[in-house]
Amino acid sequence: MTGLGGAHAAFREWMPAMQALTEEALDRFLPPSSAVPAALHTAMRYAAMDGGKRVRPLLVFAAGALFDADRDSLMRAAAAVEMIHAYSLVHDDLPCMDNDSVRRGKPTLHVKYDEATAMLVGDALQAQAFGILAEGESDPLCRLELVQLLARASGSTGMCGGQAIDLASVGLTLSLTELEQMHRLKTGALLTASVLLGARCGKALSGAERAGLQAYAAAIGLAFQVVDDVLDATADSATLGKTAGKDAVANKPTYVTILGLEESRRLAQQLRSDAEKAIAPFGDKAQRLRDIAELIVQRKA
Ligand code: IPE
Ligand code: IPE
Ligand code: MG
Ligand code: MG
Ligand code: MG
Repeated sequence: MTGLGGAHAAFREWMPAMQALTEEALDRFLPPSSAVPAALHTAMRYAAMDGGKRVRPLLVFAAGALFDADRDSLMRAAAAVEMIHAYSLVHDDLPCMDNDSVRRGKPTLHVKYDEATAMLVGDALQAQAFGILAEGESDPLCRLELVQLLARASGSTGMCGGQAIDLASVGLTLSLTELEQMHRLKTGALLTASVLLGARCGKALSGAERAGLQAYAAAIGLAFQVVDDVLDATADSATLGKTAGKDAVANKPTYVTILGLEESRRLAQQLRSDAEKAIAPFGDKAQRLRDIAELIVQRKA
């Protein structure tokens, strides 16, 4: 992947290793393409496998490392959160939403297959994600907490709610507070869930640990969508693997339209510094989380 900026050598090795582990996890937890109905399972794999930066799984693994979480538990959580993300992208690209034809450098799912398949792939990926968490941990209370975390982040008070605000905001001028709320829901909620899922695979969190991780995740979650808005306005489609410049064409309110490019970039840096402060109490064990915060604001795609 691109846009690693000045991240140090250990992270440059760790990141592709965790991306490969994510691929392995997705392969393990998605039904085989040959299982009936084969066309749907093939399309689910088209949506989820072999693409994307895998930022959410990276967060799962980095937060898990804080508390020496078990690798198998983290693979489940990583696959679950990436399946929710992949489903959100398939639906986001549909004609009734952003109407996009390219995703992760390939034709979007409804272009490659058809709209009904795209709807069903999203539905099935979502169910699969919760199934994976429900079948994982031996401690039933822990399983329940993981399912709850992902449900809250995905539904109407999380990602879906943010997408609803996004669609209702076309052509409107949002206040900065309204824009922030939209971004926190549509993107921040799932990034926060990724951090908390990874950490919870390690141990039940104390109030202070949870607050620190939540503050970190809220900052990088918002920064992630601020940078997405900046890249939409400044990068090219080949680099992004999706159509650049479409926010302006679709008349969407974004950080770029409200704050301008320079102020948006400055805000992303400020959020990175807020994120680093929030995890300072975790010391050296949080280095991978610091690396991901840097990656999120330096990325070029
Ligand atoms: C794109 O997410 C949609 C947003 C939430 C901004 P990513 O930029 O993480 O997309 P992939 O997974 O790398 O393709
Ligand atoms: C989508 O935001 C966030 C999701 C929940 C999928 P965008 O619509 O900005 O994402 P891109 O730019 O299409 O990846
Ligand atoms: Mg969208
Ligand atoms: Mg979109
Ligand atoms: Mg975007």
